[in-house]
Amino acid sequence: MRIFSGIRPSGKLHLGNYLGAIKNWIELQNHPDLEQAVYAVVDYHGITTPFDPKIYHQQVMDTVLDYLAAGLDPKKVILMRQSHVSAHTELAWIFNTITSVSWLDRLPTYREQLEKNPKYNHVGLLDYPVLMASDILLYKSNLVPVGEDQLPHIDVTNEIAKKFNHLFGETFPAIKPHLEEGLRIMSLQDPAKKMSKTGDEGIALSDDPDTVRAKIKKAVTDSGKEIYYHPENKPAISNLIMIYHLLYGKSHGEDKDIYNGKSYAEFKNILAEVIIDFLKPFQQKRNELSKDMDKIEDLLRDHEEKASAIANKTLKEVKQKMGLI
Ligand code: TYM
Repeated sequence: MRIFSGIRPSGKLHLGNYLGAIKNWIELQNHPDLEQAVYAVVDYHGITTPFDPKIYHQQVMDTVLDYLAAGLDPKKVILMRQSHVSAHTELAWIFNTITSVSWLDRLPTYREQLEKNPKYNHVGLLDYPVLMASDILLYKSNLVPVGEDQLPHIDVTNEIAKKFNHLFGETFPAIKPHLEEGLRIMSLQDPAKKMSKTGDEGIALSDDPDTVRAKIKKAVTDSGKEIYYHPENKPAISNLIMIYHLLYGKSHGEDKDIYNGKSYAEFKNILAEVIIDFLKPFQQKRNELSKDMDKIEDLLRDHEEKASAIANKTLKEVKQKMGLI
C-alpha cells in the first residue's frame, strides 16, 4: 500500500478537511500493509485561485502544524511542501503532453471555481488535475484518501497513467480512492454546499470555544421540529448529526437518545460541546508545536529530501522511457 494525499493551504483547515481526509490518513498510518505514505501541503495548487502572498508562507506552515497536531506521525509518514520537490511540476509538464483538454474542461471542480472567480480563468486552473496526477504517480501511489469531491480528479489520474503506460510501457499502477461513501460535510449555512473555509460556513480546527458555540447556534436547520437523520428531508440537521456521530457517537454505542425528543437548540448545545472537547487536545498540541518552528522547518527539509529521492527516481524512469535521457 503506497499512499499520497494533499490539502491546499488556502486558509485554516476545517472539520470537513479533517473528517473527509485527515482522519483517514491517521488511521491508515498504522495499517500493517503500509509501505509508504506521503502527505503534502499542495502549495502550487493553492495559487490557482486567489491568494495573498503576504500571508501565504504562514498559511503553508499553519497547514503543516495542523497535520502534526491532528496526529500524523512523522516517523511513519513523509510530510512535504509540494513546491519544495521540483519533480512534481516537471512530471506535470510531461503529462500535459498526453492529456486531452476535453478531460479537463468539463470537470465540475473547474466549472465551480470559474463561477466563483471568473477572472481567474488561467491555464493553471484548467491544468490543476494534471499536477494532481503528477503528485500521486511520482510516488507510484496506489491509494489516495480523499473526500468525495475529488473523485473526478482520481479518474483523470487513472486516464493519464493508462495513456502513459500505453504509449511508453508499463510504468504506473492503477490508483484507488479511499473514502467513506457519502461522507461530505456540508456548509453550516447552506446544506446544499460543501463545508468550506469561508465565514460561518465551517468550523476551523483552530476555532475557540465561543466561536464554535456561536457558529453552531447560527447553523441553519430544517422545517419541522423533530430531529432525525434523513439527508433528503432534513439536510441541515442530518449534517449536524453526521458531524456529531463522526466526532463522538460511533465510539459511544447507541446514542440516538442524544437527539431524540430534543429541541434544535438543545441538540445544538450538545453538539457544540462535543466539538469543543474534540478540538481542545488538538489546539493544545498545535500551540506547543508552534513554539519551535525551526524544528518543524528541519523536519520538513529532511522529509522533502526523502520525497525527492523517490520522486526523482520515477522522473528518471519516465525520461528514459520517453527518450529524453
Ligand atoms: P482540498 O484542499 O480542497 O481539500 C482537502 C481534502 O479535504 C476534503 N474535503 C472535504 N471532505 C468532506 N467534506 C468537505 N466539506 C470537504 N472539504 C474538503 C477533500 O475531499 C480533500 O480530500 N485537489 C485536492 C488537493 C490535492 C490532492 C493531490 C489530493 C492536490 N494533489 C493529490 C490527493 C492527491 C484539493 O483541492 O483538496
